[in-house]
Amino acid sequence: MRFDVVTLFPEMIAEAARYGVTGKAIERGIVRLGLWNPRDFTTDKRRTVDDRPYGGGPGMVMMLQPLRQAIRAAKAAEPGMVRVAYLSPQGVKLRQTDFIGFSKQERILMVAGRYEGIDERLVETDVDEEWSLGDYVISGGELAALVVIDGVTRLLPKVLGADESSQQESFMQGLLDHPHYTRPDTIEGQAVPEILQSGDHAEIERWRLKQSLGRTMRRRPELLDKLELSEEQKILLKEFISEQKTVKRNKQ
Ligand SMILES: C[S@@+](CC[C@H](N)C(=O)[O-])C[C@H]1O[C@@H](n2cnc3c(N)ncnc32)[C@H](O)[C@@H]1O
Repeated sequence: MRFDVVTLFPEMIAEAARYGVTGKAIERGIVRLGLWNPRDFTTDKRRTVDDRPYGGGPGMVMMLQPLRQAIRAAKAAEPGMVRVAYLSPQGVKLRQTDFIGFSKQERILMVAGRYEGIDERLVETDVDEEWSLGDYVISGGELAALVVIDGVTRLLPKVLGADESSQQESFMQGLLDHPHYTRPDTIEGQAVPEILQSGDHAEIERWRLKQSLGRTMRRRPELLDKLELSEEQKILLKEFISEQKTVKRNKQ
């Protein structure tokens, strides 16, 4: 898979992408990264990429032409369909299901804005979609691009080893992940749940699913509303609720 990012700070993306899962995927050639600086597509001596907003007001706006030329160059770098997204707080909020969809694409091209954003005419003509990290404003699209690159890369075949499959993680099955523990088995009076040390794999799976269901109900009930629970899952959820009541009573 190939990611391209149009950014005024290509080094920021290149550096962060060197680490962890993304870094390994790039090293192994599973992921390719193209970085395009709109400053390289300017025609004036000062390599201007921004200008004052029409209508006045604070801040600067990224100019259309250098961005358009950078997008065109990125598209032409390799054949194939390219999805062009502008990273923006006004876009659709990205979810795990979007990342699953993106992981089946050959190419994704993202435009990272800075300052007050980009000339709206570019969004109208050169951009297919607008993607948001969430309902808050950060200073530039680079961190958003890195989030997409990381979140999508870990879903690509052969990126994660069998022992770190992404299938078990939060949101993949519509639920939050179960809690995790590692050694030591007791620390300052806090013990790992006994069942996890029992070696009974079927019971461990059952416990984990119960915790996933219970956590999702308590922390993100709207996710459960979207699921059609199986009879077994309903029983596990009931067990979780009654166990919680017992824990509460014992604490009182
Ligand atoms: C300071 S922001 C501009 C915000 C814009 N004036 C607004 O209020 O909608 C600069 C750039 O950061 C990026 N950005 C900011 N918040 C974001 C978010 N929640 N998701 C994705 N990108 C974001 C965008 O690329 C944006 O062009």
